[in-house]
Amino acid sequence: MFHVPLTDRAELRPLEPRHAEEFAAHMDRAREHIRPWVGAAFVTTDTEGARSTLRRYAEYQAADGARVYGVWLDATLVGGVMFTAFDAAQESCELGCWLEPGAEGHGLVTRACRVLLDWAFGERGVHRAEWHCRSDNARSAAVAKRLGMRLEGTRREAWKYDGARHDKQVWAVLATD
Ligand SMILES: CC(C)(COP(=O)(O)OP(=O)(O)OC[C@H]1O[C@@H](n2cnc3c(N)ncnc32)[C@H](O)[C@@H]1OP(=O)(O)O)[C@@H](O)C(=O)NCCC(=O)NCCS
Repeated sequence: MFHVPLTDRAELRPLEPRHAEEFAAHMDRAREHIRPWVGAAFVTTDTEGARSTLRRYAEYQAADGARVYGVWLDATLVGGVMFTAFDAAQESCELGCWLEPGAEGHGLVTRACRVLLDWAFGERGVHRAEWHCRSDNARSAAVAKRLGMRLEGTRREAWKYDGARHDKQVWAVLATD
């Protein structure tokens, strides 16, 4: 089983359907914190929902598409990072991330995303990695900036949440940057 140390207390591992119960328990701690910022299908309410999210990612990964990885802090699943899109033919990908509130502020997601970027650029020949976030998601934009991404533009009113439309930023870094 592979795991990548992020700090002396945290590690990154593939997040798989067998983690459904752990993922559901984590989602109970994270749900309201992440709900405004991530896709609605990701915000599940029980173990079956959690399992179906993880199965969906397993199927994407089997087709060399999206992939999801968990961040464990002191052996507790506290969040994760993912390729929300991975397109080998186009040599492009998009990253995403989330944390439960207690795990913020330690650089875990920035470190974990660097692992994904190293693999994408170094092993998979990806040329362009994107990051999409709501324009008012300052913590998410700060991660993109820390990863060396550039703000390329704003998709106006592209994100509907709770009856309101929000702008979305597109950040990206190229292999040549
Ligand atoms: C987006 C989100 C994952 C960012 O979490 P985060 O903890 O701010 O990001 P990181 O894990 O990279 O940690 C960065 C913080 O740790 C600090 N830090 C400590 N050591 C660090 C290190 N070695 N490297 C980088 N940052 C470090 C940074 O200063 C920063 O803290 P600050 O914002 O108080 O200055 C989190 O806010 C979240 O889950 N939000 C809700 C869901 C969401 O928005 N997902 C993204 C959708 S686009």
